[in-house]
Order: sequence, then C-alpha cells, then structure tokens
Amino acid sequence: MSSAPIVVLDSGLGGLTVAAALRQALPYEDILYFGDTARLPYGSKSAQTVTRFVRQIIRFLLPRNPKHVVIACNTATALAMPSLRQSFVGLPISGVIEPGARAAIEAAGAKATPVIGIIATEATIRSKAYDRAILRRRNHARLLLQSTPLLAPIIEEGRTGDDPLVRLALKQYLSPMMQRGMDVLVLGCTHYPILKTTIAKLVGAGVTVIDSAHQCAQDVAARLSRASLLRTDSSHAGDLRCFVTDDSPRFAVLASKFLGMKIDPPTWVAPETLYATDPSAPIREAV
Ligand code: DGL
Repeated sequence: MSSAPIVVLDSGLGGLTVAAALRQALPYEDILYFGDTARLPYGSKSAQTVTRFVRQIIRFLLPRNPKHVVIACNTATALAMPSLRQSFVGLPISGVIEPGARAAIEAAGAKATPVIGIIATEATIRSKAYDRAILRRRNHARLLLQSTPLLAPIIEEGRTGDDPLVRLALKQYLSPMMQRGMDVLVLGCTHYPILKTTIAKLVGAGVTVIDSAHQCAQDVAARLSRASLLRTDSSHAGDLRCFVTDDSPRFAVLASKFLGMKIDPPTWVAPETLYATDPSAPIREAV
C-alpha cells in the first residue's frame, strides 16, 4: 500500500543521512528509522552477529507493514543482504552498496582504467562487496580499498570535520590513497557523508566524492515508483519516527547538529525486546 511507511535502519545515526536524503526526494513518505545505538559499531562484528541484529530489527518493525526496508548501513548490506532476502521473502529490501557502486562507475566516465577509492568499515572492506559490485560493471577499474574503523565511532561521539582528531584520522587514512592517485572516492559508510565537505576539501577538486546516502535515496525512489508505491498525496507531510536501542539524548541532538533535521525524541527499544523476536537464536553471540 502506498501509504505504508518506509523502514530505514542502521547501527546508529549514520543511516539518518539516508533518511534525510529520502525526505528530500520523497517529502510525503512516512519513515520509521531504527538506530541500533546500544549495539554499534557493526563494522567490527561478524556476519552472523550483524545479520542476527538486523533480522531482529526487521521482525520488530514488521507489524507496522512497511512497503520497503532500506538497509541504510553499508556493513549490514555487505554482510547480511542475501540472508535477509531469504528470511523475508516478499518484503522489498534494498541496500546502499549497489547504488554507490553504480554512481562510482558513472562518475568514472569513459576513462579506460579509472582509479576508484573506497573507504568503509573493516567488515565492509573485508566482505569485498564493493569490489564485486564495481568490477562486475567495469572490470578494468583499479580499486584502492581502505578500512577506516575510527570514523564511525568518532562521528557518533559528535565530533565534526573541524575537530583536530577527525582531521588527523582523515589525513592518516586518505594520504596513502591520494599519493596513488584517485578519480573517484566512494564514502562506503552511511556515517561518512556527515564529513563530506571536509573529505572533499582534503582530496581536492580532481576527485569525485560519492555520497552513498544520496545515491541510496534515489535508488529507493526509483524502486517505489516502479512498484507504483510512491505516495502522491501532497497534503500529507511525511513523518519521521525514530527508534533507538540506547536511549541517549545525544541521538536527537546529533541528528539536528549534523543534518539540520529536527526530530522528535526517539522511542527506546530495549535490546531484550529485539532478542525476544528471535527466540530460536542462541543467547551468546556468534564469534
Ligand atoms: N553506518 C555503518 C555503515 O554504513 C557503519 C557504522 C558501524 O560500524 O556501526 O557501514
């Protein structure tokens, strides 16, 4: 049903960059945002654990009959997507990696051997999901892969692009890539668009920076349009309702600081409630 909500989920506030882009592209849509703030970061966890966490979140939100679920987390997209599609047959689910890879190829243009850099969490880099998505389309592309594990926690802490620690981390991570020369840089984590201006300045005007959040929102809009599920009722102002697993006041404060989005206080969901959606799973996390 076109009036049903869109679910957007992430380990923390990074996926709000996707929610913000979606609100801009589709202002009449209701969005249910889930940030698993008590269990982040996902980027250093195993595929089994991340898959289990995301499956629990989707089960928790299923009674709200979403028309589409957006995995607004590169790590969860990389590690869990095939298994999620198997678990939730008939539920439209999409992620961030395919749209990001498509945009990177487009930005590389006609260059015979474009150099495409990707920064992402350790788990995303290790999964090789971007390698596959890009090389399937352009097998002559040269990839520079860099895991940047400090960035998501630093952003969740509320530090911005002018913070010396952020600048130091970015320089450490990006300098070796810049020395090797890059045409395109993919921000392969939904937290990173928050630092996009700083990153773009650092890498210079010759490098096109791809914002996975923006690309993902365009992809969702196209999917909903193809399925005739777009909400067209312009008298309805789309609503954004947030759920978090750690009820920290920081979430709402950072949401408005980073995204200029005023959000209502999020609803706290105890992780125990999520585990209860998955009674057959063992209590101990897979390692
Ligand atoms: N936002 C997540 C992503 O896009 C990463 C943050 C985390 O490690 O939890 O990969």
